[in-house]
Amino acid sequence: MAAPIALIQGASRGLGFEFCRHILKNKSLATVVATCRNPDGAAKLRSLAGQHPGRLTVLRLDVNHEEDIRGAAERVKESFGRLDLVVNSSAMLHPSGKGETSLRDVSAQGIISTLTTNTVGPLVMAKYFSPLLLKGSGGFGQQPAEKAKQHSGIIVNITAKVGSIGDNGLGGWYSYRMSKAALNMATRNLSIELGRSRPKVVCVSLHPGTVNTELSRPYHQNVPKDKLFSTEHSVNCLMSIVDTLNIEKTGKAYSWDGTELPW
Ligand SMILES: NC(=O)c1ccc[n+]([C@@H]2O[C@H](COP(=O)([O-])OP(=O)(O)OC[C@H]3O[C@@H](n4cnc5c(N)ncnc54)[C@H](OP(=O)(O)O)[C@@H]3O)[C@@H](O)[C@H]2O)c1
Repeated sequence: MAAPIALIQGASRGLGFEFCRHILKNKSLATVVATCRNPDGAAKLRSLAGQHPGRLTVLRLDVNHEEDIRGAAERVKESFGRLDLVVNSSAMLHPSGKGETSLRDVSAQGIISTLTTNTVGPLVMAKYFSPLLLKGSGGFGQQPAEKAKQHSGIIVNITAKVGSIGDNGLGGWYSYRMSKAALNMATRNLSIELGRSRPKVVCVSLHPGTVNTELSRPYHQNVPKDKLFSTEHSVNCLMSIVDTLNIEKTGKAYSWDGTELPW
C-alpha cells in the first residue's frame, strides 16, 4: 500500500500542531500537509519540517477564504494526487476570546465570525478535498475484508462536547455551541453523501476533551488538573480512535475516550 498522506488544517499550534507531530512520529512513512494562516510565522512547524526532511509540507490556508482552500487543494493534487486523512482542527471560541455568558453578550457579528470559521470553513474544506480523499489509499483507519465496505479516506472534524444539544444542561456560549452543533450536522450530511460513493469516505466529529491550549485558557482555572489534558494525551486518544475507524463508524461524534457523543 502507498504511504499514507494526511492534511491537518489549523496546524500552527494547539491540537493541529500536535496532530502533525504525532503522525510524523508514529506513522513512519506518512507524509503530512500542514495548513495554517501564516506559514512565515509558524516557527514550530518549520522546526518540525526540519526534523522530518521531505515529509512535511506547509501551505497557507485561511479557512475563512474559499480561494485559499481551492488553491491548497490544487497544490495537493499537483504534488500528491490523493489524500488519506483530513483533520479540520482550526476554530475560535468567539472573537472576544470568551464565550457569551448570556444573551446580553450576543452580537450578530460575533456569531457570524464564529460560524464562518468553525462551521463553514470545514464544510468548504470537504468540498475541495473530498475528490482527493476519494482517490486515497485508505491508509488510515481499519479496512474490513468486504470490498464494498472499504474506505479510501477519512474526514475528521474536531468538535466539542458543548456542541452536543442532548448534553447541554448549562446554556451560555451561544456562538461556539451553535457552531459545533452545526459542524456536527455537516459531518452527518457528509457521511451520507460520501458514504454513497464508491469508494467511500468516512466522516466523523471528534471531541478532544478539555485541552491545555490558547482556546480554552480563560477557563483553565475551573478545570481539575487531571481533567485538563496535554495536547499529546488528547491527540494520542484521538488518533487511537482514527486507527479503528471504518465505514460502519461513519456519521457519528466520538469523545476522546471512544464513547459516542449524543447529538
Ligand atoms: N482546547 C480545548 O479545550 C478544546 C475543547 C474542545 C474542542 N476543542 C477544539 O479543538 C480544535 C483545536 O483547538 P485548540 O484547542 O488547538 O485551539 P488553539 O490552540 O487556539 O488553536 C486554534 C488554531 O486554529 C487556527 N485558526 C483560527 N482561525 C483560523 C482561520 N480562519 N483559518 C485557519 N486557521 C485558523 C489558529 O491559527 P493561528 O495560529 O493562525 O491563529 C490555530 O492554529 C478546535 O476545533 C476547538 O474547537 C478544543
